[in-house]
Amino acid sequence: MRCPLLLLLVLWGAQSRAPPKPNFVLIMADDLGIGDPGCYGNETLRTPNIDRLAKEGVKLTQHLAASPLCTPSRAAFMTGRYPVRSGMASQTRIGVFLFSASSGGLPSTEVTFARLLKDQGYATALIGKWHLGTHCHNTSDFCHHPSSHGFDYFHGLPVTNLRDCKPGAGSVFAQAIRLLVLAPLQVLALALATLGALRWLRLLLVPGPVFVVLLLLAAALLGLLLCFLQSFRPLNCFLMRDRAVSQQPLSYDNLTQRLAADAARFVRRNAERPFLLVFSSIQVHTALYASKDFAGKSKHGAYGDAAEEMDWGVGT
Ligand SMILES: *[C@@H]1O[C@H](CO)[C@@H](O)[C@H](O)[C@H]1NC(C)=O
Ligand SMILES: *[C@@H]1O[C@H](CO)[C@@H](O)[C@H](O)[C@H]1NC(C)=O
Ligand SMILES: *[C@@H]1O[C@H](CO)[C@@H](O)[C@H](O)[C@H]1NC(C)=O
Repeated sequence: MRCPLLLLLVLWGAQSRAPPKPNFVLIMADDLGIGDPGCYGNETLRTPNIDRLAKEGVKLTQHLAASPLCTPSRAAFMTGRYPVRSGMASQTRIGVFLFSASSGGLPSTEVTFARLLKDQGYATALIGKWHLGTHCHNTSDFCHHPSSHGFDYFHGLPVTNLRDCKPGAGSVFAQAIRLLVLAPLQVLALALATLGALRWLRLLLVPGPVFVVLLLLAAALLGLLLCFLQSFRPLNCFLMRDRAVSQQPLSYDNLTQRLAADAARFVRRNAERPFLLVFSSIQVHTALYASKDFAGKSKHGAYGDAAEEMDWGVGT
């Protein structure tokens, strides 16, 4: 869930007569380290496309993110303001949105760079991950959705890529489950065993209904846990195209290829006018994934495969 960001800025050639309006392509990759791309000195992870951008453009060697977490750092990136100013920071609670039904998000009063460019006549798109909220009051207001923050087009994840979205990839809720379900279950089991033993030894006359209530409590806890685990992926892991759900649950099959192709289509569609494209890569945040062409091909396991595929997406 930690998301230091790598930002690449590509300025396309100026469009037409004065005053020239450059195109903007911003590429963001969660969790990619400064030591990963070849242009920053890595000799075993292959990132030829990023390296080429660095070689033909400029390479910056100092970057300060406003936060090491997805939601607050994105709020800062989109607005140029400290995330605490938009209410997108938290010191004591989980600092990111984990559920698509969260009612929080980037307030409508915040001005994003996409809004400014849209007002200047730019075609604007965000492809990939958003993670700054969707709705305020009901499922039709879209008050925090990219379309309410200056993006004409959105295709991607409204929330984030979580391990729980990929079967077999583990859970970000493991600690909460241990604390809220497994620990109480252990207490219940201990209570049942103790009361049972006392009754068997005839040391305490424990009425039968007490056992029934304790067993029901344990069953309810287990039931809630199973319900949560069963429904998380279908309910929270989905792709949207503009304001409609386009794939639910999300499939990781060729996900990078699908999003990169869509980004390329957006660029072609708007070749004749100034545009802003924010490509907010799903890789290399966990759940780690890679398509058949990249899986098992890097020297750095699943992480390296994902990073090399992300670089391929940059080249697309
Ligand atoms: C290259 O990247 C991999 C994967 O993150 C890392 O394990 C390795 O240490 C890096 N190499 C260098 C020289 O930084
Ligand atoms: C959803 O909320 C908005 C804003 O509060 C309101 O205008 C709209 O009527 C609501 N829609 C539904 C279907 O409740
Ligand atoms: C993914 O892309 C590969 C290569 O283009 C293709 O052969 C394969 O059928 C695709 N898989 C899915 C599930 O779309």
